[in-house]
Amino acid sequence: MVKYLILQNPGHNRVFYKEAGELAAAELSIASQRLSVECTDIATQEVAGVRYITLSCNDDLSEADINILSRLSFVFAIFHQFGIFAEDGLLPIPFAKYEYLDSKISTLQKYPGKTNELFTKMMVNVALLASDFTYDDAISLLDPISGRGTTLNEAAVYGFNAFGVEIEHKSVHENQVFFKKHLQNERLKYLSDRRMVYGKKKSEAIYIDEFEYANSKEAFKDETQRKKLGVVNGNAQDVDKYFKKNSFNLIVGDLPYGIAHGNSGANKSSTGTRNPLELIRTGLPAWKAVLKTGGTMVLAWNSFVLAKNRLAEVFEQQGLKVLNEAPYDGFEHMVDKSIKRDIIVVKKL
Ligand SMILES: C[S@@+](CC[C@H](N)C(=O)[O-])C[C@H]1O[C@@H](n2cnc3c(N)ncnc32)[C@H](O)[C@@H]1O
Repeated sequence: MVKYLILQNPGHNRVFYKEAGELAAAELSIASQRLSVECTDIATQEVAGVRYITLSCNDDLSEADINILSRLSFVFAIFHQFGIFAEDGLLPIPFAKYEYLDSKISTLQKYPGKTNELFTKMMVNVALLASDFTYDDAISLLDPISGRGTTLNEAAVYGFNAFGVEIEHKSVHENQVFFKKHLQNERLKYLSDRRMVYGKKKSEAIYIDEFEYANSKEAFKDETQRKKLGVVNGNAQDVDKYFKKNSFNLIVGDLPYGIAHGNSGANKSSTGTRNPLELIRTGLPAWKAVLKTGGTMVLAWNSFVLAKNRLAEVFEQQGLKVLNEAPYDGFEHMVDKSIKRDIIVVKKL
């Protein structure tokens, strides 16, 4: 047996309080199904007062395995343990360099209502690892409730094409301004385009703001190597009107939490809905239509306002497979007094 110890990103502890170890173990268990070696003993272990996540494998991890582990949201450092006890020796293993864009694109921004970027990265990882696709495929990801774009930014760090739909114009605008500024600050080549994606008359027109960019001048010259990031200022329930059927490998999003942030407890915001069940019921047929077979949806919601089995029923009624069993059931955690967050993982078979 070869034993590895993984040190957790301190930010992970901050986001998930005391459940950080369990969430990390769940993400690692899902990832371990993709490794070239057989792994057991995924648990937490203290060494000299510091918590590590352990992983025992029947052989050395390959380069491709390190490539997968380096991406996990909680991973800060990976050590190969030699000797019988962890105290005997820990040899650091170099990380794989996988970032297409610098991850600061996702960490720099702070605003009310932002979904934590480590949590978002975890959702993107779980979606990819539960799907029939690999990180090396040409992945297109959709966030149908994209806010100011944390999921899209995380997808861009991975070099995925990333598309969002968001009902609030202000968020769409801020997302677009920020992304453009980032490309300019990093001196990356890009094209930007605004075009109608839906509507016969101007009064009912729905637009997408889209960037085509690359992380080097050479890559930008070759159109097939360019990446896309686009946001539609529209309604999540209409994604099949904005995008072609079977066009996304992954759908990832953080649903409205079902609680009013600062205004009067009404269940509707000015344009969208705060009720996650209503949003799923009305949006799911369209989300299913744009998702490829073998693709997955990972959605976060507040389990205080909606039980998982009620949510799961809606997906099952649409003929989708809800991954309910361990380790997919290991993600529930407290965010604050009114939000207990969980994720649901769903596959289109
Ligand atoms: C929890 S927030 C997402 C935050 C985002 N992940 C971020 O970090 O910026 C949920 C978003 O869903 C949007 N929303 C609610 N109903 C919608 C609908 N019917 N169509 C599109 N967006 C909607 C809200 O405006 C809000 O921005």
